[in-house]
Amino acid sequence: MREKSPPPPPSVLIAGDRVQARIHELAAAIERDYAGSDLLIAIGVLKGSVFFLVELLKHVRSVPVAVDFFQTSSYRGGTSPGEVRIRKDVDLSIRGHDVLLVEDIVDTGYTLRTILDLLRFRGARSVKLCALLDKVETRKVEVPIDYKGFEIADVFVVGYGLDYEERYRNLPYIGVLEGGAADPGAGAEDG
Ligand code: IMP
Ligand code: MG
Repeated sequence: MREKSPPPPPSVLIAGDRVQARIHELAAAIERDYAGSDLLIAIGVLKGSVFFLVELLKHVRSVPVAVDFFQTSSYRGGTSPGEVRIRKDVDLSIRGHDVLLVEDIVDTGYTLRTILDLLRFRGARSVKLCALLDKVETRKVEVPIDYKGFEIADVFVVGYGLDYEERYRNLPYIGVLEGGAADPGAGAEDG
């Protein structure tokens, strides 16, 4: 079999130890704010939020936590930008509970806007958003981020759960692909 040289690793935008330190700070703020809550339901959006969610929740120890997931897809560049489909709904009943939505990145904001509205409609006692990354410049709809890791410029990033064509999610840092990477495009499955 012919050997193929692997592509160069993505360059570092935010080093792993900085990401971890920031996640620990976010966890501390969450523990403070939810002290006394009987149950905090943390909801991740598959698949991108998984690495961040796990690291975050390992450090939320003083609050009882349940975990659930959504999976969405959107039609970026299609005829209806911002149209978000729920591919997998949560299993838990959220009525009357505190809900913390956990996302890897807020880009246009369409995904989070849709999910936040849905959670409120279903009668959660409170709904807050925790996002590792915030691409401020590309926002199309307003989404308040209660717990934010880092603001970044409009670059395509990978690592810490974020992928390019399903690769690089397990990178232990936030990286940028050399030469840049195209948007996955219309009809893409998010996550
Ligand atoms: P939205 O545009 O805010 O609805 O974000 C939808 C999804 O696009 C995010 O949850 C990510 O999965 C994905 N996404 C947005 N920007 C990036 C990026 O820079 N790298 C990898 N995925 C991204
Ligand atoms: Mg995602």
